[in-house]
Amino acid sequence: MFSRLRRSTDIVEKRGKRSLEPAHAAYYKGKPGQSLNLILQARHDFLSVWRKGDYTDRVTSMKVFGRQIVTVNSPDAIRYVVAKRHENFERKTPQMRRALEFLLGDGLFISDGETWKQRRPLVNDIVHKNRLPTFGKIMENTSSELVQRWSALPDGAPVNALYEMAGLTAEIIARSVFGNDLGEEAANAVTEGFESYQSLIDSINIGYFLGFDEGLPVLRTPKLRRSVSRIHQIIDKVVEDHLAGRGDDNSMVELLVRRQKRNPELKLDVVALRNEAATIFMAGHETTAATLTWAWYLLSRAQWIEKSLHEEIARVCGDRVPTLDDIPQLEWCRAIIEETLRLYPPVPILARQAKEADRIGDIDVKPASLILIVPWLLHRTEAFFKDAHLFKPERFLNGQKPIPYSYIPFASGPRVCPGLQFGLNEAILCLAVLAQRFKVRVAEDAKVEPQCRLTLRPRGGLPVTLHRRERA
Ligand code: HEM
Repeated sequence: MFSRLRRSTDIVEKRGKRSLEPAHAAYYKGKPGQSLNLILQARHDFLSVWRKGDYTDRVTSMKVFGRQIVTVNSPDAIRYVVAKRHENFERKTPQMRRALEFLLGDGLFISDGETWKQRRPLVNDIVHKNRLPTFGKIMENTSSELVQRWSALPDGAPVNALYEMAGLTAEIIARSVFGNDLGEEAANAVTEGFESYQSLIDSINIGYFLGFDEGLPVLRTPKLRRSVSRIHQIIDKVVEDHLAGRGDDNSMVELLVRRQKRNPELKLDVVALRNEAATIFMAGHETTAATLTWAWYLLSRAQWIEKSLHEEIARVCGDRVPTLDDIPQLEWCRAIIEETLRLYPPVPILARQAKEADRIGDIDVKPASLILIVPWLLHRTEAFFKDAHLFKPERFLNGQKPIPYSYIPFASGPRVCPGLQFGLNEAILCLAVLAQRFKVRVAEDAKVEPQCRLTLRPRGGLPVTLHRRERA
């Protein structure tokens, strides 16, 4: 409805000889109290609505069309919301629930109450770090296949890093969730279906701000229906095959099915199994793809850091392909990924809807208010991170850790990302495998603009060129 009122974002990027302030939106300077302007700007880009003063240790409250919005940017208050009073703040926002319910049904990402309580241990169990060795092999093989594919391209070949990383992590999660038998055509159809679904849904549920506590349903256009029905058909077929004993033994769907057979009281029918499988598929690949894409951008702009990375890979792995077992020794690799997750948290906003009245810090919270914890702000708050806008992976070396609840790329508390170990190890390993053989370069004059949709990614992707490295 507002599509004609186009907005834009001013981007800051500062490059020194050995210092980098990578791309971020300039501080918001719009007049206070203009709700419509703020909503339109947020709809264009959620990250461009923050003023300089928002990057401080505090809890604030404002109203947009009468709806209370509480922004929580203080570690103690964050602990209160996500851990201590989890039950009052566990509920996702109407925006998130409405946007995803057609696709994910009651899948873990948007469920709450009893359904969430029952399903969460199940999902924890199947993506648990003890299972990493199984999935680690898939990560090693899939990233090595990408090295092969890139090796067949001419040196300096142009590609879009976001799409390359999305393809890589979608393949890893598809093989992990559905097993190796899915087939290329079906895997591509699922990935494209999710991509198209996201591009069709709006980033703001206007109804919620206009007084509907549960938001308004998303319009189910024929295009949206087609993409959802295609995804559901493919996943249902995988689930039915597994239920009939015809699935891949090591897949996450198989683990879900086995769990259901052991505990029939869980009542996981085909639809529930599909919802959880689709949720893990969706939650488990875009985030890692975004992380890797941002890491390539940062390394291309900070080549003195890239040099330390290359030296470390050569020292730890020599000429052989890096494996999951190398990860404890790949300290620079880990620090680069952790710093990337600080500067560009793939989930830059954690939004909740308060169930009952409450008090966060000095702020009285009304029922149904919108509670925002914004890792994007938190991670760039000078009180918690010195030189907060600068790319400095060293801050994560030698066992240094941020203060509790000031660094939450995977969220925290009972709703912390169950795929934390999977995602972190996947990002470190893929970076090591690819950086061992290739340098990825972003053009000097390229304008990189962070864009926040469901995840934080460079607007339009990240055009790069690929350059082969000499063998060690
Ligand atoms: C770098 C990679 C990743 C990042 C940064 C990340 C981040 C997050 C964050 C911040 C949340 C909480 C969202 C919220 O509460 O609003 C979340 C939830 C979730 N993530 Fe991840 N994630 C990553 C990878 C993965 C992977 C690989 C999987 C699965 C294999 C996964 C599965 C999930 C699921 C199922 C949830 C919903 C949990 C619940 O609501 O109880 N994630 N993730």
